[in-house]
Amino acid sequence: MPDWTPAEFEANGHAVLALIRDHFEAVRAVPVTVPRSGPELMASLGGALPEHGEDFAEVLADTREQVIPYLVHWNHPSFHAYFSTSASFPGVLAETLTAALNVNAMLWKSGPAASALERVVLGWIAELAGYPAGADGVLVNGASLATLYALAAARDAALGEDVRVSGVFGGPALRLYTSDQAHSSVDKAAITLGIGIGNVVRLPCDDRYRMNPEALDAAIRADVANGLKPLAVVATVGTTAVGAADPVPELAEVCARYGIWLHVDAAYGGFWRLAPSLADRAVDISAADSAVVNPHKTLYVPLEASALYCRRKGALAATFRLVPEYLTSRQDSETVDFMDFSPQLGRAFRALKLWWIIRAFGREGLAEMLEASAGHARWLRERAGAHPDWACPDLSDYPLVCLRFEPAELREDAGLDAVERLRLIAELNEGIVEEVNASGAAFVSHAVLPDGYVIRVSIGNIRTTRADVERLWERLTETAARRSARTTVLAAR
Ligand SMILES: Cc1ncc(COP(=O)(O)O)c(C=O)c1O
Repeated sequence: MPDWTPAEFEANGHAVLALIRDHFEAVRAVPVTVPRSGPELMASLGGALPEHGEDFAEVLADTREQVIPYLVHWNHPSFHAYFSTSASFPGVLAETLTAALNVNAMLWKSGPAASALERVVLGWIAELAGYPAGADGVLVNGASLATLYALAAARDAALGEDVRVSGVFGGPALRLYTSDQAHSSVDKAAITLGIGIGNVVRLPCDDRYRMNPEALDAAIRADVANGLKPLAVVATVGTTAVGAADPVPELAEVCARYGIWLHVDAAYGGFWRLAPSLADRAVDISAADSAVVNPHKTLYVPLEASALYCRRKGALAATFRLVPEYLTSRQDSETVDFMDFSPQLGRAFRALKLWWIIRAFGREGLAEMLEASAGHARWLRERAGAHPDWACPDLSDYPLVCLRFEPAELREDAGLDAVERLRLIAELNEGIVEEVNASGAAFVSHAVLPDGYVIRVSIGNIRTTRADVERLWERLTETAARRSARTTVLAAR
């Protein structure tokens, strides 16, 4: 039999664990990425379909030499792009056991303890995120699909059960409301559900990138007057670009006034309330009809793990429950068939990694790690804010820092008009991002705001220390100063 014996598995497993140990013991010496072009990667990794089984030592050696260096190391203490995430070690080991057991958690009957654990961890995560106990919930692969599923339930709740049979043809256009900062997954949900991007009303935000409840009210009122059908509002707690949080309780009041569904995308912002210094400003998401939080973003859980909740009991099942004969099973008072809450049938046993991580760290340990990230971000904001050549707009309550290098020579050059100034500052900052990322010393990303380009530094990796953030700041300032001097020389020519 070509598969390994359990003893061979253990021996090979030791080699993999040793690789992981070596990688993380020396992780600060590992470049966050080593640039390699698409053609180079395809040349080194492509090849004919293996006809015969190969020695695992060789496969592992190729993985070590040809694959790992050319990844972008998201689980690196100097990875600060997009949202900084972490796969903690209990989660990494849980993934191995999950794969070995290969349980399909579609029905209670097909994985009783897996389904029971899913209920348990969903309860814990709701408590950590401040969503009401007893809501329906399900673990899904990510926030994008969670939002899609929530909006499908919202659509069916608004249009009635006939939609499942007759589809959505005819009738007034369905309207979704969100902010101009909401994630593109809202648009993708509108495309997938047949609502259409043209019916996603993206409201302009206030000066801190939050949705404005009065503007929402006015938009809904105008649509009703025009015979359109308001369906749902998607609020964001932790926007992608700057980490802003919409005022959920006030938006919930507007939704209640019109009887429309409120979904909260708290994929990024859902758990920062656990950090003591951020607890006071946490936005209460409990009034949302549905909400998604992403343990794989900020709770040290390896990809993929999102929790979707819906306090309108039965609404997700009203949309997704469909039981062919071969999936029928006997129920008791505690059983839940998680296939009823989304279109996904075969489902990984995601609950185990969450159970291990939450038990390994406890609420206290999680709060301590989240607080550490919050502290590092405060330090960076203070440094950048105090520097005469850097702007650091205070836009987020979370450890997502937006910075812009704006040297006096550009800021105060009277010969430049506003557009030209913005363009030069954007080019300068873009160059800084590219150079820092190409160095392998750190990895950051960017956003373009109405007042210009910003460098985004997301702090949240489990291993990031103050010293790492200090090194990043040194690299940013050193790179900026060098590139600024070059810009000045070029401008003078
Ligand atoms: C605010 C927000 N919502 C949703 C998503 C999508 O999350 P996922 O990758 O889990 O689908 C992102 C991704 O970064 C996001 O920033």
